[in-house]
Amino acid sequence: MNKEPGKLPGDSGEDGTERRFEDFIPQDGDADIFAKADALDSYLGANPASYTEGLGLRMEGPAAHTCTVREHDGHSHKVTMLGSNSYLALTTHPAVVAASIKACAEYGYGMGAVSLYAGTTPLHRLVEEELSGLYGTEDAILFPCGYSANVGIISALCGPGDVVVNDASNHASIFDGCRLSGAEIKVYLHRNMRHLERVLQRIPDSVRGRLIVTDGVFSMDGDLAPLDEITDLARRHRARVMVDDAHGLGVVGPTGLGTPEHFGCTRGIDLLCGTLSKTPGAIGGYCAASASVVRYLRYYARTYFFSTSMPAPTAAGLVEALRLIRADAAGRDRLWRNIARLRDGLKALGFDTGDTESAIIPVIVGDEQKLAAFHNELRANGVFTNLVTYPAVRRKECRLRVSAMSTLTEIEIDAALSVFADVGRRNGIIA
Ligand SMILES: Cc1ncc(COP(=O)(O)O)c(C=O)c1O
Repeated sequence: MNKEPGKLPGDSGEDGTERRFEDFIPQDGDADIFAKADALDSYLGANPASYTEGLGLRMEGPAAHTCTVREHDGHSHKVTMLGSNSYLALTTHPAVVAASIKACAEYGYGMGAVSLYAGTTPLHRLVEEELSGLYGTEDAILFPCGYSANVGIISALCGPGDVVVNDASNHASIFDGCRLSGAEIKVYLHRNMRHLERVLQRIPDSVRGRLIVTDGVFSMDGDLAPLDEITDLARRHRARVMVDDAHGLGVVGPTGLGTPEHFGCTRGIDLLCGTLSKTPGAIGGYCAASASVVRYLRYYARTYFFSTSMPAPTAAGLVEALRLIRADAAGRDRLWRNIARLRDGLKALGFDTGDTESAIIPVIVGDEQKLAAFHNELRANGVFTNLVTYPAVRRKECRLRVSAMSTLTEIEIDAALSVFADVGRRNGIIA
C-alpha cells in the first residue's frame, strides 16, 4: 500500500506509469506554488476517461442503504449504497437522531471554543466515559476527527530519538502523525510478523521510545492486523502499542468491541484509538488509555488543544450510538449476514476480494481505465461503490471498495450482485 500524504490524484507512483502528474508542471524557474493546481487541470484534461467522474457526487438524502445521487451532469438517480462506512446505519437510527435534535435545541449547533476553554459540555464528557467504559480503560479523550486524533496522539507522544514502527498499509493520518513527530519511522510489510520482529530486533538498545502503530481493520483491504502477535512482540521488545480501530469498532469481535476484542488482547494495547465517523456514524476521533496519558494528551496533543471541539448535537448522537454498540443492540448480526452474502456472492462471480474479514470488501481490478468504466457503469445501473487508486493504493492494485450495511435487504444485495455480474463481464473483469 502506498498512502504518501500530500499527493494528488495523478501523482506518479513508484510503479512509474506513463500518466505522470509531474509531467504537467512547468519545469522553468517561473513556476510558483500554484503551478501544481494548473498542472492538475492539464492532467485531468489530458485524461478525459479519468476516474474523477465518479468522485465528489452529491448525495441527495441521508447516509442510508438506498440513496439518491446527483451526477456531475445534473441528473439524479436512485442507488443501492455500497459505499458507506455507516455499517450499522446509526447515522439515521431514530434514537441517535432524536438525541442529536434535542441537544441542538439545548446547546445550539456549534461549540465556539476548543475543548479546554469553553468547548466541553456534559455530553462531550459522556462520550469519553462511554469510550473508556467500552474498552475498560481509565479515561478517554475526544478529538474533532479521526485524522486529527492520529496526528495529535503520535506527534504528542513521540519525538526525535524515538522510533515508530508502522504496518505498510496504515492510514495516511498515522504516517502524517509520524512525520510531524520527528521520530524515526520504520515500516514493516503488511501484516508480516516476521518482518515486524526483524525491524524490532534491529532497533538499538539506546532507543528508549518505541511505538508500534497499526490499523485494526485495514481501510482499503478489510483485513485484520494480528494484534495478539503484535502485542506479544511489543512486550518482548519494550514497545508500546497503538491501534487505530476505525473500521473495527461496532463490527468486529464477539460483541462488536473491535479488533482488540477479536484477538482477546484489549489489555495489551496502550492506546486504543479510532474514529467516530464509521460505525458510530458521526464525526470525531478518540484515544482510550490510562488517566495520565489522556491528561498528557489534553495539553500536548496540538490537534486537541488548538482545534474546536465537536458540536454538542454530534456528541449527544454519539452517546446513543456508543450505547447501542456497547450493548451490541444495533443489528450487528444482520450486518454480518449481509457481509457474507455480498462477499461470497462477489467471490462466486469470480471477483478478487482479497482477505477481507470485515464490512470492507475490496474488488481488486488492477487497471485504472477498466476500473473507471466499471465504477461508472455500476453506478449508472444503480449500484454505488467507492473507487480507490493511487495514492490510496498502488495503481496496479486499484480497486472498488465495497461495503456492507446492516439495513440492506437480501433482495437489494442480490440485485446488486446481478449488476456486478453483467457490468463485470462487459468490462472484462470477470469471465
Ligand atoms: C483507519 C482510519 N483511520 C483514520 C481515519 C480518519 O478518520 P476521520 O474520517 O474521522 O478523520 C480513517 C478514515 O477516514 C480511517 O479509515
